[in-house]
Order: sequence, then C-alpha cells, then structure tokens
Amino acid sequence: MSATHHLLQFTIILILSLSTSSLTTSIPQELLKGFSTVPLSSSSSSSPSTSFQPILTDPTGNFSLGFLRQNQNDLQLAIIHTPSSQTFWIANPTHSFSWSHTTRFFFNGSLVLWDPQRTLTWSTATDGDRVILLNNSNLQVQTKNAAPLWESFHFPTNTLVQNQNFTSNMSLVSSNGLYSLRLGDTFMGLYENNGEEKGRSLSKRLFLLYWKRTALEAKALIVNGEGPIYARVTTEGYIGMYQTSPKPVDVQKFNSFQQTSSFLLVRLESDGNLKGYYWDITKSSWMLNFQAITETCELPNPCGSYGLCIPGGSSCSCLDNKTRFEPGESGEPGSCFNNDGGGGGDGGLCGGDGIGGDNGYYVLRRNGVEPPHKELLEEVTTLSSTECENLCEKDCRCWGALYNNQTGFCYVLDYPIGTMLGTRDESKVGYFKVRKGARKRNKVGVIIGIVVGLLFGVVVIGVGICVMRWKKKKGNLKEEDGNWASPGPYRNLGSESFRSVELSGSAQ
Ligand SMILES: *[C@@H]1O[C@H](CO)[C@@H](O)[C@H](O)[C@H]1NC(C)=O
Ligand SMILES: *[C@@H]1O[C@H](CO)[C@@H](O)[C@H](O)[C@H]1NC(C)=O
Ligand SMILES: *[C@@H]1O[C@H](CO)[C@@H](O)[C@H](O)[C@H]1NC(C)=O
Ligand SMILES: *[C@@H]1O[C@H](CO)[C@@H](O)[C@H](O)[C@H]1NC(C)=O
Ligand SMILES: *[C@@H]1O[C@H](CO)[C@@H](O)[C@H](O)[C@H]1NC(C)=O
Ligand SMILES: *[C@@H]1O[C@H](CO)[C@@H](O)[C@H](O)[C@H]1NC(C)=O
Ligand SMILES: *[C@@H]1O[C@H](CO)[C@@H](O)[C@H](O)[C@H]1NC(C)=O
Repeated sequence: MSATHHLLQFTIILILSLSTSSLTTSIPQELLKGFSTVPLSSSSSSSPSTSFQPILTDPTGNFSLGFLRQNQNDLQLAIIHTPSSQTFWIANPTHSFSWSHTTRFFFNGSLVLWDPQRTLTWSTATDGDRVILLNNSNLQVQTKNAAPLWESFHFPTNTLVQNQNFTSNMSLVSSNGLYSLRLGDTFMGLYENNGEEKGRSLSKRLFLLYWKRTALEAKALIVNGEGPIYARVTTEGYIGMYQTSPKPVDVQKFNSFQQTSSFLLVRLESDGNLKGYYWDITKSSWMLNFQAITETCELPNPCGSYGLCIPGGSSCSCLDNKTRFEPGESGEPGSCFNNDGGGGGDGGLCGGDGIGGDNGYYVLRRNGVEPPHKELLEEVTTLSSTECENLCEKDCRCWGALYNNQTGFCYVLDYPIGTMLGTRDESKVGYFKVRKGARKRNKVGVIIGIVVGLLFGVVVIGVGICVMRWKKKKGNLKEEDGNWASPGPYRNLGSESFRSVELSGSAQ
C-alpha cells in the first residue's frame, strides 16, 4: 500500500504502454489450427493487478479477445472494447483461471483454455478451421466456408450489443452473479438469484422477479405456439422483443431513439439495473441512454439485508432503529446486518436445531413498511396481522411476513430479507426473523474505521498529488465491479468510467 509502490506501478505501466503500443498492429485477425499461447509471465510484485494481453483483434480494431488479468493471479478469457477497456464478454464468468505459464490457450478445432493448476478447462467443443472476431464483437469458430460452428453471441455474460439476439434459453448475469435478465413467454424480467441454479427452471424461491416488462404488442401480436420470443437492441435505439414477424411485439425506447447511429449496448449492472449506453466517439466514452429502473428504491436490494428504503428519500436506514446503515465500499451493496452463513437457498432457518426451544432466530417488528415489487408477489388474505405472522412463524422457510391492514393482504417472504420499502401508512406492518448471530454493523467498528481512514488520509495527502491522481484512477477502475479492464497496450488515460458516464448521462 505504500505510495512509492504506486508510483513505481504507474511508471512501469506508462513504460509498458508506450513500448507495446507499436506492437498492437501485429495482433492477428484470425487464428488457425495449431495456434497456442500462454499468458506472459511478469513478476507479480511489479506488475499491475489488472491488465490485458490481446490475442485476436477484429478488422476495425474496436474489439479484442485476450487474457484479462484480475487480482494479480486471476485470468479470464475476455472480449473487450479497446477504446474504453470495457469488458463485453467473458468465456467462463463463474471461474477464473490462473495467470501462470502452465495455463494454455489453443485452437485445435476447438478453442480451449486449459489450466492444470486449478484443473479448469473451458472449450467450445467444436471441430472448426478458423477463429475470427467480427466487427460487432462476436467471436466465431468457423468452418472453411465461413459457416459459424460456435459464437460468443450465443453465450452472453452481462452485456448485449446491438443486433445481438437474446433468446429464451439465454440469460444476462451481472458480474457479481446476483442478478439476471431472462425472457418469459410474453415478457422480459430481471431476477434476483437467491441460490444455486439447478437446471434452467425458474424456481420462485431461487429466482425472485423484481422487474417485468410485458410485451405491449402494439406493432405485432404474440401468437401461441409460434415459438418463443427473443429480444434485440436495434440500431434505431430501442430494445425490441420479437416473435416470428420482423416487426417487434414490444419496443422499449432509448433516449436516443432514432437520433444516433452510434454503437449501442445494454448491460446488467451489479446493482441489478439494466442500463443502455451509446458510444460517443468524440468524448470517447459510453453515455447512459436507458435505465430499466429509475427509482433507487425499485432496485432489488438498494439498502442491503434488513435495510429500509424510503421512496423519494435520500438515504438508507435499517429496519431496527438501533443499527446504523453502512454504505458498501466501491459499488458493493451496503447493509444493516452481516447475515453471514447459509443465508440463501434451502438452508434458511430450517436447520436441525430449529425444532425445540431455540429457534435460531429472533423477531423484529416494524410499522410503516411494505415489501418491494409487491405487484410481482403473490399474496394471501388474512383477517389480522397476527394471522399473517402465524403463517410465517410456523414455517422455517419463511423469513418474514408483511401485512396490509387496509386490504388484508399478507405477503409471506420465503427468501432472506433484503431491503423493504418505507411508507407513511403505519397500518402496514412487518414481521421479520433475524438469524441469531447475524452480526450487527457496530458503531465501534465505524469509529475505528473513521480514525484509520483519517490517519491514512493524512499520510496520503503528505505524499503528493501525482500519486493521488493515480490512486483515483485505480479507484475508478475498480468501482463498477470486477469487470473492469485496464489493458496495458490499450490503456487510455483519457477514458471515463461508467460511473462518471452515469453522471453525465443523467444530467441530460
Ligand atoms: C469502431 O471504429 C470505427 C472506425 O475507427 C469508429 O468510427 C467507431 O466509432 C468505432 N466503434 C466503437 C463502438 O468503438
Ligand atoms: C482439442 O484439445 C482438447 C483438449 O486437449 C481435446 O479434448 C480435444 O479432443 C481436441 N480436439 C480436437 C478436434 O482435436
Ligand atoms: C462490419 O462487417 C459487416 C459485414 O462483414 C459490414 O457490412 C460492415 O460494413 C462492417 N462495419 C464496420 C463498421 O466495419
Ligand atoms: C438475429 O435474428 C434475426 C432473425 O432471426 C436474424 O435475421 C439475424 O441474422 C440474427 N442476428 C445475429 C447476429 O445472429
Ligand atoms: C436456444 O433457442 C434457439 C431458438 O430460440 C435455438 O435455435 C437454439 O438451438 C437453442 N439453444 C440451446 C443451446 O438450447
Ligand atoms: C423505529 O422508529 C419509528 C419512528 O421513529 C417507530 O415508529 C418504530 O416503531 C421504531 N421501530 C422499532 C423496531 O423500534
Ligand atoms: C387494523 O384494522 C382494524 C379494523 O379495521 C383496526 O381495529 C385496527 O386498529 C387496525 N390496526 C392498525 C395497526 O391500524
């Protein structure tokens, strides 16, 4: 963490980027059978913790396939947009490979990434003749006649570029793995992933729907039995849903609808929002163009576990008034309780010692709360809040129950408690189970944090502006999520992060 260390890193990167930029023209546009490469070794103490080693480029030079280095020793096979260093695609987002000379990437008909150290293999399982990266960022394994056998467009990660077809057997998953975008019969939905995915069925408890766009069918109708719908970002500036007709069954317009011919994409962000961007070539940055969710409290978990979000309000608080809400660091969600250990999925509160005297949880009650996205939840009608609570108390899979005294609606939540909505209506009551041993974020920790932070701040200020600027740059690179790249040869010190883009975008 020493400042000189950062200065050293900065200098080395600068030298690297200057010395390698002349080599970028030699990156191939095609890989043939027999191709093989390994990540470049570099001593881990002096190399940047994130960097990019290009392997294949598209004809325009806009996109590049290569090794993306993260956390010093982790390697991902990734496609990046070179002017902005944005990652568009990752071969195997759930596992990272080791950045080591034993990790090998080759093409023998299949594209194979093989890591004997972590015993990981990723493969396209094809028998092709060549590999190319198209000018729309699509990576293809092709036959001699240029027929695609495999394409990265069929396996999107968190990003969908213009004209890329998104079908009902695909999903976009945010880089933290918490959220996904999927298609239903007549809608597209954003889901919170509450556990391990088993098969592709959408179990209600594992995939909690928090945003839904049903096709309006203004230009074309969805016909039963005519096949599933699919979606696409069009160059005219909207997310279209389609069935068989070339006319869309639904149109979600971007701000730039019919205005720009610039490159468009949508990305499922780590906060669970689906955002659209266009590439502004003069500013050399991605500009925010669309947001599925515009109100913070409508996000899936804006205030973390047992948090309270007040619509139109400015900040998060906690369901119990005693705990202070802790904002998360660098894009991580904040929270009220550290609900660690088996929080999600089937385990819940159904552990062995759930029977008998010790329930393993205590109860928290709060007036003036309602569940988020309640229009997407199923409710039961009960005569009283007590009856509603009883439904939850008896069921070890239940984490909470919310009752609306006016309507008699009772919402039973059979997944860990995230952020609830605050309401002025005190007759809306909430009952929540809190796992015993769920650690509160305590104030002593906060105070220590502040003191340490202040001390650190004094040290940093003493060191000088040059280092500060480098630190800031590094911070930017990290803040969105683990998905950021700062490719050595392509490093663009003038490019902005998506977060600063958001600011400029929302100011429009
Ligand atoms: C791709 O490259 C062309 C030509 O350099 C440029 O006009 C265009 O804006 C680039 N597109 C993206 C998305 O970077
Ligand atoms: C390519 O290499 C992989 C891993 O060694 C192997 O499993 C596969 O059979 C090979 N494919 C062809 C077409 O030779
Ligand atoms: C991309 O490739 C397609 C087909 O090969 C071509 O029609 C199009 O003009 C290219 N676009 C750019 C920006 O190079
Ligand atoms: C997307 O689907 C449409 C309609 O089926 C097809 O014409 C188009 O070629 C597809 N685009 C890509 C990039 O595969
Ligand atoms: C996904 O669905 C499309 C049609 O929607 C189909 O052509 C394709 O074979 C499916 N892919 C897989 C892996 O099931
Ligand atoms: C928290 O404070 C609010 C208003 O100050 C009060 O209505 C509510 O009952 C309190 N809740 C708890 C759990 O103490
Ligand atoms: C709920 O409604 C009942 C009957 O309408 C009323 O007696 C009771 O006071 C209400 N409770 C709250 C908390 O508003």
